[in-house]
Amino acid sequence: MKKLWGGAFSQSSDLLVDRFGHSMESDLRFWREDVQASIAHARMLGESGILAREESATLLKGLATIEHEGTDSLPKDVEDIHAAVEARLFELIGPLAGKLHTARSRNDQVAADTRLWLRGACKHICDEIKALQSVLLRTAASHVKTVMPGYTHQQPAQPISLAIHQLAHFWALQRDGWRMEFVKVAGDFSPLGASALAGTGFPIDRLVTAKELGFAAPIPNALDATSDRSFVLDALHVSACTMIDLSRIAQELILWSGPEYGFIRLSDAVTTGSSIMPQKRNPDMAELIRGRTGRAIGNWTSFASTMKALPLGYNRDTQDDKPALFDSFDLTRDSLQLATLMLESATWDTKRLAVAAEAGFSSATEIADELVRHGLAFRDAHEIVGKAVLMSEGQGRFTPEAKNFLAEKLDSSIVERLTGKSAALEIVMNRRSLGSTGRQAMGNQIRHAKRLLKRPGFPSIY
Ligand code: ARG
Repeated sequence: MKKLWGGAFSQSSDLLVDRFGHSMESDLRFWREDVQASIAHARMLGESGILAREESATLLKGLATIEHEGTDSLPKDVEDIHAAVEARLFELIGPLAGKLHTARSRNDQVAADTRLWLRGACKHICDEIKALQSVLLRTAASHVKTVMPGYTHQQPAQPISLAIHQLAHFWALQRDGWRMEFVKVAGDFSPLGASALAGTGFPIDRLVTAKELGFAAPIPNALDATSDRSFVLDALHVSACTMIDLSRIAQELILWSGPEYGFIRLSDAVTTGSSIMPQKRNPDMAELIRGRTGRAIGNWTSFASTMKALPLGYNRDTQDDKPALFDSFDLTRDSLQLATLMLESATWDTKRLAVAAEAGFSSATEIADELVRHGLAFRDAHEIVGKAVLMSEGQGRFTPEAKNFLAEKLDSSIVERLTGKSAALEIVMNRRSLGSTGRQAMGNQIRHAKRLLKRPGFPSIY
């Protein structure tokens, strides 16, 4: 295997060492960023007089050819992408290629490449988050009056609307996007020119390369620049957070698309059949999202363990940040797309949702509130409704006897209204507090969400 070093070595390395150490496969993911960073460096070397203008121009021409050729012409039997680009450059322009490495090291190179790659990847994730948010918002806007059970402890608690439910996920994703924007900021500083660990005696201009590559500024400390990977930890953490939020959506889809709930029907395009049970329609994609969330969490904790107690200065340990980063970002992106696909092609069974919304005494809190409006202390009201529930035990809804008992304290027409067929809709619509399911509150929330979705990026929700 061709190396970028070896002058001081009389023996070639063991094959196992080559295999264990090489990173070419995963490095190919950021080949373009590596070439772009080299282009910025080569131009700066010419502008600052470290290389002759013509030398810089020849390097730039060779690098432009590589950028144009893509990965096909890069040698693969090399240690890493930096070696591959330099080897190809040598083939294209001869020994002058060796001058490109003046005043730099693979240590600042790889840190710069990773940051550049992350910038593009964050943008893609942010776009996908917005796409999923817009599906959730659309569903919310057309289901303000669709009632369903709201759960606590996974038991029916109070009736809610499908609108508030979908928007709850919308806000979770807003926070994920907001965190992802922070990842962009955290990675937006240039390590290039830090060289191996201590900077260089050549009169390089780090501001110029930082600017050309679109970074906000050079990292002030060369030792920090080459050994910091906290921005990768941030990225892994945020993608794990996003996956955790997606896994919660997925879990609901898994439960709710099954026959016991039957709240939602997932389309053929996103479900799978069973090889033995012809009746099955399995929500495999939702299950994979739920399952792979574990991998995203694992990537984060695994690389956090790698970083723990790592002494300053470049260490080869950090080479393994990239497979974890690529894996987490790939699966977050795919999962966001799949969640969007599943939700936009799904059909909600509004009738079943409504039936379920009425079950489980879900109007109990509202009846207690009504007693409070009639002058009772909430504790006493709670006790009375509790008794009515006890009287109806095993029936699933208030019995005539329980209704009569309640009618002693409330008008019987009110009792009828709060226990009757469209009680859930009435309860849902009548809520007034900010953030509630009521007509006006929900209208405000939908407008708020629409405004944020239209704005670029993910402004804080407050
Ligand atoms: N493949 C290495 C990595 O990803 C590049 C830097 C190698 N530097 C070194 N001193 N061996 O970290």
